[in-house]
Amino acid sequence: MKKDKTSTDIKTKTTMVIFGGTGDLTHRKLIPALYQLYINKYLPKDFSLISIGRRDKTTEEYRNDLLASTKRFSTRNLDDESFDTFSRMITYFRLDFDNEKDYDRLLEELKERDQKDILDNYMFYLAVSPDYFTEIVENLKTSKIRKKKSNWQRLIIEKPFGQDLESATKLNEAISKVFDEKDIYRIDHYVAKEMIQNINMLRFQNAIFESIWNRNHISSVQITVLEKEGVGTRGGYYDDTGALRDMVQNHLLQLLAITAMEPPKTLDADDVRNEKVKVFKALREFKDEHLSEKLILGQYNGYQKEDKVDDASTTETLVATKVYIDNKRWEGVPFYLLTGKALKNKTAQITIEFKNSSRYHYGASSEPNILEIKIQPDEGITLHLNVKQPGVIDKMAMVEMDYCQSCLYLFNSPDSYEKLILDAINGDSTLFTRWDELQLTWKYVDSIISSVKDDKSSYLRCYEMGSDGPDELKSFIQSGAKHWWYLNREY
Ligand code: BG6
Repeated sequence: MKKDKTSTDIKTKTTMVIFGGTGDLTHRKLIPALYQLYINKYLPKDFSLISIGRRDKTTEEYRNDLLASTKRFSTRNLDDESFDTFSRMITYFRLDFDNEKDYDRLLEELKERDQKDILDNYMFYLAVSPDYFTEIVENLKTSKIRKKKSNWQRLIIEKPFGQDLESATKLNEAISKVFDEKDIYRIDHYVAKEMIQNINMLRFQNAIFESIWNRNHISSVQITVLEKEGVGTRGGYYDDTGALRDMVQNHLLQLLAITAMEPPKTLDADDVRNEKVKVFKALREFKDEHLSEKLILGQYNGYQKEDKVDDASTTETLVATKVYIDNKRWEGVPFYLLTGKALKNKTAQITIEFKNSSRYHYGASSEPNILEIKIQPDEGITLHLNVKQPGVIDKMAMVEMDYCQSCLYLFNSPDSYEKLILDAINGDSTLFTRWDELQLTWKYVDSIISSVKDDKSSYLRCYEMGSDGPDELKSFIQSGAKHWWYLNREY
């Protein structure tokens, strides 16, 4: 059981302050998530939101913008009346991120909201370009907002957290001067996806899995996160980033750690994150030898013509890599990570391929057992088994036992941001990335990037938009697994 972190005798009220209130993330994700939390009565009683933007706008205008965007982006129904009550908790506040005086005004605004005998909880959410992270945090300090008496003050910070270990360290040093590590909530929205949170239960609450979750029974693990869309309007950001930094350093390595970690002592944030850190420490060093056996980089045809992308760009839009975890549980088991843009399907899944234990010959070679953990678009778990086909002649067939979570819940799973915002309010940082996790994952990804740095174009494989990726992917998998299992699925 997790500890109940909400019980307290102090009377408090909670104010969330979003920097980047007119931005894409706030409209697409944060406001729809807050609205869902509101209608499901998860928000604290005295909750309010100050949404900060640089444009001139009245609160009324801003609330109307939010109504329109939430109607557009929310995956669930919106009721005008309840949205109206919800939006009365929201105030728009104009502020230039680099203008110290504006932060003094913000402090005044916060003071005006003070109530006798009630302590404040402040949650500062940086939904802005990373160029502003340090500046905003430093201004929270200079303006004395950080010194304001409160019950707690927390900082939620979006990715990307740095571009490499060096820049991430610099950023961390700057924000650590203002917030303690325990009050910094670094977001990785993949970790909060329903089926990822389900992995712990699946592994640790089912004796049939925990006992075989190791090198004796598992031959490979495939973690695939594929997207149909290209870079769209994000060419400027993406061209300096690429799939290794954008997806592998955070989302895919997090999925790997959650799949591979030892059972934590408790489900408390630090015990869980300690176990993930042990996995990152056990990653086999990525050396720049035999590269073709462990790394494929791809770029979709047409990428260089995308808006704000260099026309001779060597940025990878696809990565496949083979990772080993050198510990007792996983020694010798390849973990294949694959992610890419502009592919045939949008899908994310973790596939566990078990060792083939076939003993008899039934006229066809048996397939290994496969456990698929389907993350999106559909959520669920599928177990592939070999069975006898009905009939007088012994013939084998592979069947699927399916738990379709999205069928049962009619695609009504909460969005990651609902979970993340609620956890941050409740002070549960289990799903947020601790600094030591980031250090180790950046170190790992930096070593992949530097291994191809001098000759990147010769490693880059071209693939067609809407395809399954470069042809080389097929031979890449065959060294340690039977197939790319995601290719065998119908969508
Ligand atoms: C983001 C990346 O972190 O995750 C994007 O920056 C990517 O490039 C996105 O498209 C994918 O998230 P999801 O939840 O849509 O799979």
